[in-house]
Formats: sequence, structure tokens, C-alpha cells
Amino acid sequence: MEASTAEDWKIIGSQFGSFAGKLPDRVLAHLALLEGDCGGFAVDRLTHSLQTATLAHRDGRDEEYVVCALLHDVGDTLGSYNHADIAAAILRPFVSEENFWMVEKHGIFQGYFFFHHLGLDRDLREQFRGHRWFARTEEFCAKYDGPAFDPRAETLPLAFFEPMVRRVFARPRRSLYVSDKGGMPAGPDRAVAGGAR
Ligand SMILES: [Fe+2]
Ligand SMILES: [Fe+2]
Repeated sequence: MEASTAEDWKIIGSQFGSFAGKLPDRVLAHLALLEGDCGGFAVDRLTHSLQTATLAHRDGRDEEYVVCALLHDVGDTLGSYNHADIAAAILRPFVSEENFWMVEKHGIFQGYFFFHHLGLDRDLREQFRGHRWFARTEEFCAKYDGPAFDPRAETLPLAFFEPMVRRVFARPRRSLYVSDKGGMPAGPDRAVAGGAR
């Protein structure tokens, strides 16, 4: 890395786009891994994800919100002890701050419904009371994430949401490697910055 030149990065930059462009395929493939594991629930993890997205969509939520609903548990496989962090990290370049926060904190807010059955503090979310996106996250769990375990409820197929995922992941809105001031303009250099090692 230290010995790399601008010439090298021109070559790397020219190839980054095709790899990054397949990110929606990898995300969708990873989401599909949730199929088949119910974990004691009445529906498997993929059905829960689809139902959460279906509820949000039927309630008139915008596309970005619906995609967040679809992917909020995508971290279940690799983040078995911190699944919300994984989903939030994947979504972060592509969604608003409020949607990122909502996905990142949903595990704690969802806990209000069941943590007390496990000897945990159901009010753990209270540490965030007063935060500007508290109500948004509380609502996500109450209206979409919480009820989405019903084997009889409408469950739109993954194919229905696939174009939404592709559109939301088409272009990063921001990069961890670019100052927040000024946003995230399009362009191959910025695309590389979005995926810098
Ligand atoms: Fe979750
Ligand atoms: Fe969930």
C-alpha cells in the first residue's frame, strides 16, 4: 500500500466498479441464507424479513425504508450476537442517518417485547429516550418487525423487493472515507473511496 502509485490506483479504480456493482446480488444471496431456520419461531428468518418489508410496503413506506425493513436481520448469520450492527453497516453508505440508526438500534428496541422473559431489562431502549429517532425506531418494531412472525400473514416474495434493493444499492450516498460535509458525489474515484480497504 505504501508503495502504491496513482497509476496503480487508476487500475484498481477501473476494476472496482464491476465488483461493487454486484453488491446487490451478494446482499440478496446472503438474505436468502436466512431461509429454513426458524430458531423456535413460527416462521423462518427469511419469511420474517419478507413480512417485515411487506408490512412496511403495505403501510406506504418509501422504498429505502422498505429495503431497510427487508434487510434489518440480514446479519443473523454472521452476527449471531450483534445482528443489528451487521445489517446497519451494510446499509450505512446507502441510506439516511435516521434509517441507519433505526436498523442499528432495532435489536434493543425490539427487546422491549421480550427481554423480560429472558431475565433482561426490557427498558434497555430507555437509554435512547429523547433521541430524535427514538419514536421512529419504536414504531418500526411495533408496526413491522414485531408483528412479522405470522405464518398466515401476507408475505410478498423476495423477487418483489429485488428491484428495490438494486435501486437503493445502486449508488452510495456517503462514504466513511469522505468528510460528511459535501455529501457523496458520483464518480469512480468516490466509488473506490466507498470501498477503500
Ligand atoms: Fe432483529
Ligand atoms: Fe426482525
